[in-house]
Amino acid sequence: MSITQKGDELRFNENIFIVSKTDLKGRITYANDLFIEISGFKEHELLGAPHNILRHPDMPKAIFKLLWERVQAGNEIFAYVKNRTKNNCYYWVHAYITPIIDTKTNQLIGYHSVRRSPSTKGIEVIEPLYQKMLNAEKQGGISASNAILKNTLSQLKVSYDAFILSYE
Ligand SMILES: Cc1cc2nc3c(=O)[nH]c(=O)nc-3n(C[C@H](O)[C@H](O)[C@H](O)COP(=O)(O)O)c2cc1C
Repeated sequence: MSITQKGDELRFNENIFIVSKTDLKGRITYANDLFIEISGFKEHELLGAPHNILRHPDMPKAIFKLLWERVQAGNEIFAYVKNRTKNNCYYWVHAYITPIIDTKTNQLIGYHSVRRSPSTKGIEVIEPLYQKMLNAEKQGGISASNAILKNTLSQLKVSYDAFILSYE
């Protein structure tokens, strides 16, 4: 049993990964079996669909903006993401998203995401932070949300990357 359900929340085993690839616009070009199974969609519903097919309304826009800024610049990013399934359940992932570079042409051709199950501690820290960011976004947009993230990081005196990787 690699996926378990408690209420509306799905969890998956620590030693397995949810994997997808996208084109440059974020349309899904590959999804592994675990991705398909946990999402509740059929493979044909996922392939070609925009990755926001999984978007959960609890996710702040500012996190996706940061994600896209990083990967479009050719860099990697780690992020906690709450995803929604086809049946309106949810699951948290700790995602590692990287650009895919064509080795022959050296061109950016898409993106790759490998997600593992986040620690309970990580979710306990990230969930209230995202909630605060989301509330700020409703009032003051993405800049207000970014300010919450920035203040949190400066209070802790850590970079975004160190913060995200500290709750293993
Ligand atoms: C490789 C890759 C993987 C992504 N994985 C997810 C994901 O699992 N869940 C999600 O909501 N968005 C994911 N996104 C971000 C989406 O493309 C999109 O920006 C996000 O869902 C916000 O959608 P919106 O801009 O329509 O609000 C991913 C993007 C890339 C490039």
